[in-house]
Amino acid sequence: MEVWQTVLCALLACVAGGLYLAGAFRRRKANEPPLDKGLIPWLGHGLHFRNNGISFFQTMQQKHGDIFTALIAGYYFTFLMDPLSFGAVVKEARAKLDFIEFAEELVLKVFGFQPTADTHKIIETSSTKHLKGNGLVVMTQAMLESIHKVMHDHLHSAQESKGWKEEGLFHFSYNSVFRAGYFALYGNESSSAENDQGKATKSDLDSSEAIFKEFRKYDKLFPRLSYSMLSFAEKREVESLKKYFWDILSIENVYRKDNISLWITDQQQQLAESGVPEHMRNRFMFLLLWAAQGNTGPASFWLLAYLMKYPDAMAAVKEEVDRVVRESGQEIKPGGQEPLNVTKEMLSKTPVMDSAVEETLRLAAAPLLIRAVVDDLVLKMHDGREYVLRKGDRLGIFPYLSAHMDPEIHPEPHIFKYDRFLSQNGTKKEFYKNGEKVKYYTMPWGAGTSICPGRFFAVNEIKLFAFVMLTYFDLELVNKDEEIPPINKDRYGFGVMQPMHDIQFRYRLLPTET
Ligand code: HEM
Repeated sequence: MEVWQTVLCALLACVAGGLYLAGAFRRRKANEPPLDKGLIPWLGHGLHFRNNGISFFQTMQQKHGDIFTALIAGYYFTFLMDPLSFGAVVKEARAKLDFIEFAEELVLKVFGFQPTADTHKIIETSSTKHLKGNGLVVMTQAMLESIHKVMHDHLHSAQESKGWKEEGLFHFSYNSVFRAGYFALYGNESSSAENDQGKATKSDLDSSEAIFKEFRKYDKLFPRLSYSMLSFAEKREVESLKKYFWDILSIENVYRKDNISLWITDQQQQLAESGVPEHMRNRFMFLLLWAAQGNTGPASFWLLAYLMKYPDAMAAVKEEVDRVVRESGQEIKPGGQEPLNVTKEMLSKTPVMDSAVEETLRLAAAPLLIRAVVDDLVLKMHDGREYVLRKGDRLGIFPYLSAHMDPEIHPEPHIFKYDRFLSQNGTKKEFYKNGEKVKYYTMPWGAGTSICPGRFFAVNEIKLFAFVMLTYFDLELVNKDEEIPPINKDRYGFGVMQPMHDIQFRYRLLPTET
């Protein structure tokens, strides 16, 4: 063969390979979901999906129905939009639908942590041990003490000023819950003879403020980092933030502290025993900080914002909090002189607040559940239809749109109804679609093998914060007519949403019995 023929053949092979990779040759086979590759090779619907997830899902659902396969940045994703069929995905064995493969890629990119075969199991076992049952009693107590530590200055200054104090609610809530959760999980500065308690507390408060500031920088870049969309300057910023967290949360630094949670030390020990080197375990600390602290603060913000906006909700929750505190035999002294005690047991007697928290998460939590299709699979829909999913594709569920915001499951889905989930006469409330009972009517924690292992602790954190705020303070929006801020759409798919802008609130100490 002539040289030019060889070159031409090679070129044609490259073009064909490129087109193959770009998805040009893929055709829908019999029994596969509708296939939509979009107009741009390889990228497919990537831009629409990333720029406006809700609009992407709505457009595709209107066009193709409740299951479809779309090309997104080189990957074929099948999205299942029918909440009645979610069980088929949640219960499918990991041998066919695996969440770890996708999660591994993401955590390597965003935290620099390379998981091993044992990582998920280690998280699972130590979360069962330390974030549930008796472990949760300990963690709830640690969180309460930490909230008191963080709130001390607010209480003190509210007492001094004897009037209203004004703050941005998002900043206030995120900052307080983040820092308190950080102490509860990663411990407190040790206070030896030469370093007395007051100094140690001051140093904790100062350093946690600095850490929160850096965390927020990372937090803001996170969605675009996950989509590999950062500018050069932002990439550099992310790299320096990663280094900051790997260092500040390094085993060497954290293990100098007192009262580190068993959840942290147990996972660290198991990772070390399974041969994970120390520098990787430092990175794992950062992953845990992100997973544990990125959602509870924003969720606490939405809860308080809705309570302040809806006076009937505030009155009902407040009445319940007062009753639970009264029944515990406590008398609240002004300015937190005797800190309020709230136990895990007290938190289990709050059906109204539970419903308000669930409603908050229905409105504000929008995770995207992704599974890798490990082997060809037949997906059976609730109505009997069967679809073949191809090995190598991905399967996605976005419950925020398919369940949380479905007006048939949750009438008037955009409105906060604090009692939407309140059990009637001791029976759990049920939700229906097309006359059928919906099992997965909300999924803020994901589901199945990837369900959030910290969910019980997370709910207690949010509730503790609300308990403390409602017991000590009168709370109100500065502008009572101001609407709840809209959700920042960039974060769809990443857990609890954040508002487009902050909202001002004010608080003052409640008059207390003397
Ligand atoms: C409102 C608060 C929270 C929400 C809405 C939330 C939600 C979620 C979701 C949706 C996932 C993953 C789902 C998936 O990939 O399919 C997840 C994973 C995880 N969450 Fe949470 N979470 C919250 C708070 C917490 C807290 C407080 C902790 C720990 C103290 C925690 C620890 C974790 C961990 C370690 C994972 C990764 C699990 C693994 O990969 O094995 N989360 N969370």
